[in-house]
This record gives sequence, C-alpha cells and structure tokens, in this order.
Amino acid sequence: MTPYSTRRARLINLMQAQGGGVAIIPTAPEVMRNRDADYPYRHDSYFYYLSGFMEPEAVVVLIACENPRTILFCREKNLEREIWDGYRYGPDAAREKFGFDAAFPIEAMAVEMPKLLADAPSVFYALGQNDYDEKLQGWLGSVRAMGRAGVVAPSTIHNVHVLLDEMRLFKDADEIALMRRAGVISAEAHCRAMRISRPGLYEYTLEAELLHEFRRKGSQYPAYGSIVATGSNACVLHYRASDAVLKDGDLVLIDAGCELDSYAADITRTFPANGVFSGPQKELYEIVLASQNAAIEVTRPGKHFMDGHDAAVRVLAQGMLDTGLLNKNKVGTLEDVIANGDFRQFYMHRTGHWLGMDVHDVGEYRDLNAAVAEGESKPWRGLQPGMVTTVEPGIYVRPAEGVPEKYWHIGIRIEDDALVTETGCEIMTTGAPRTVADIEALMRN
Ligand code: GLY
Ligand code: MN
Ligand code: MN
Repeated sequence: MTPYSTRRARLINLMQAQGGGVAIIPTAPEVMRNRDADYPYRHDSYFYYLSGFMEPEAVVVLIACENPRTILFCREKNLEREIWDGYRYGPDAAREKFGFDAAFPIEAMAVEMPKLLADAPSVFYALGQNDYDEKLQGWLGSVRAMGRAGVVAPSTIHNVHVLLDEMRLFKDADEIALMRRAGVISAEAHCRAMRISRPGLYEYTLEAELLHEFRRKGSQYPAYGSIVATGSNACVLHYRASDAVLKDGDLVLIDAGCELDSYAADITRTFPANGVFSGPQKELYEIVLASQNAAIEVTRPGKHFMDGHDAAVRVLAQGMLDTGLLNKNKVGTLEDVIANGDFRQFYMHRTGHWLGMDVHDVGEYRDLNAAVAEGESKPWRGLQPGMVTTVEPGIYVRPAEGVPEKYWHIGIRIEDDALVTETGCEIMTTGAPRTVADIEALMRN
C-alpha cells in the first residue's frame, strides 16, 4: 500500500458510512499565461493527496459500494506531444504505477461516468470548485434518461471536500516527514538571507537567496509569494519582495517558505539589515518573541485552536502598555485592552492557521460536532496530535498621534510551524534563529 492507496481506502470507508456512492475528484486545469506560454502547472491538492499523480487532465473516481473500486482517468500516451511536453504515463502505466484498480483515457469519462453513476445512491463531489460541474450535470442527465430502463440516478450530492478536509487536517507519517524537510530547507533559506544581508542590497537580492536555497535543496517552488519587506514595508501585511533598498538601521521582515513535494513550510523572521538590533527594535522584538513562546506553550492537546492566539495577545497587549504604544491613561488595564480590542492597532491578524499541502490549509477551525445552544457559535477546535499549525504573532507600528516616534515604521513577525504531538508540539522550523542573540551571532559570522 502507498500512502495514496491507503487514503483512497479510508475515503471509501467514510463514503460507505454515509451510504456509499461515487466520488469524483479532478485535478487542477492548466492555465495559459499568454499565447502559448502557460503558468507553471500545480496539480490540485485533493487530487494529489489521493493519487500522487502529477499530470494535468486527470480525475480520481472512487466507487464505494459492496465491491469498491478505484479508477483513474488520465491523458492517453501521445508520442507526438511527448516530444514537446515530456513523458505521459497513459492509463495502463498509470494504473500499474499508482495502484488503481482501473484506468481509462480522460476522454472516456463521457461514456464511463454515466455507467458508474447508474444506481449509485450519492455523488461525492465538490460543486463550484473546478470545471467539472457541467460535465457532472451531463452525466447525471444521461443516467436519468435511462430511468425507464429501471436505472436510478443518484439522489444526493455530498461535498467530498468535507471528508477530505478532515482527513488532510491530520497529517500521516509520510506527510510529516515531508513537512519536516520543507521546514528544514525553508529555515536554511532564511539563514542564507540573513547571512548575506547588509545595507545597500535590495529586497529582491534577499529573495533571490531564498529561491536559490529552496531550489538547490529540491523544492519545486515557493509555497506562496515571498515577502521581503525592509523598513516600513514590513507594516504592509501582504507586501511582496520588491526593489526597495535595505537601509542602515532598517529591520527586514522575511515571510517565505518552500513547497516540497506538495507540502508547504511557512516561516517569518525579522532581523536588522546591518546585523545589530537598535534599542527600540530589540524592545519590540522581545515582546513578539515572548508572545510566540506563550502561544507555543499552549499548542498542545487539551488546548483549543484559539488558545495560542489568546496567549499571544495577552503578552503583546501587556508589551504595548509597557512600552507606551498604548497609553494606559486612555485604554485602561490589560483586561480592558483585550476586551476592547485596542491591541488591534498594532496586531491585526490571527496567530495561526492550519498548514499542509496548502499554506492556508484545509480543515475546520471550529468543532462542528459540538452541541451548542441556538444562536451560539461552535467552540474552537481542540488541538490533537497530527495537526499542524503556524504560530505567528507580530507587531506593526504605523505612525500615529500618541505613538512614541522611536517605534514608528517597525514591523516584526516571528512565524514557526508546529506539529501537535501527544504531549505538546514539535517546532519543525527551528533551523532559523529566533532570539536576538542567535540572530546577531549568525549575522556576525
Ligand atoms: N505566509 C502567509 C501567512 O503567513 O499566513
Ligand atoms: Mn502563516
Ligand atoms: Mn507566513
């Protein structure tokens, strides 16, 4: 069994528990950039999770009935196209290599799908997420047209992503191994950028170092657009590496992670362009670091998804009061600041998100099975071993009246990737230094 065939079998079991049916999970379409140049191809995460197959124009179909079957539809071999675009498995070799019970050319779906859907109680398919909705309608129409011959069409459509999101939220051993490696490579890339950093370079110079390290270690591409933000650019949350010059006295915020064999890392480090933190920079940095430690401390079974955020907010808000970022005389006590949300002036995002094949990975954040009174929200999800979340507090100071000027334009975030374990969590991104002393030491050498 490969991890992919194990996952297919698990999904079939879950479908059977809902009365059985047919699951249809297409991969992503190719997207043209202009004329005959296309965007780099990235398969669909759900499809890949169940197949390990990376070619476009492919669909996994799972039959969950008394006699379960797994089927792959994929491109035919085409020696002419293979001269231009490279090797294609074709259905026979793909079936053999990827362990499906059957495989057909993608064009055969028009004929095969109505047969497969005939008399199936349900379809398990994510409507509105890809370009197969119309095709499915057509296949269902064909099945209904056989009604007078006694064939029954599926009466229910289940969103197959609901089942798959829950599976993907808990990482298996193969996924954890890949995520650890993605974390190691990404941390090395951050170290590389820190080592080379000095005033006079450009944001894109550091981005180039990140990309170089990702690729030379075997990562296929970045997991998301790298943020390399010097000085006040760090206060723009979705800034991308651009062409600003690193100035003496600037902090540089880098939020970058690689994708390795479909799994993402997501790391942020903030360091001084010249290798030495100034007094005010260090003050705020220590607050963010302490808040991250507080959040990591409660990233463990028995705690909820939002406990890390709440722990981080307490430390950050206290720091804002201590430094005078927030004026005690105006905002009141720590409890007031938390209750009224005044901390949001300097910390306006959440402290974590699920991480996996997608950087903002799938998975419910609330416990949808919990019983609550009408009108109440479901509680936040309890953390369990195998979940992976980021822990990423920050402080971003835009100039404003009453805000001490020495902190203006400072933007700091520290982000690591935590695998929840039986007893706590494992930080998979420790290779990049986090403390002031460790960052300055690395940059000195
Ligand atoms: N890099 C995206 C995030 O930190 O959420
Ligand atoms: Mn993140
Ligand atoms: Mn990030």
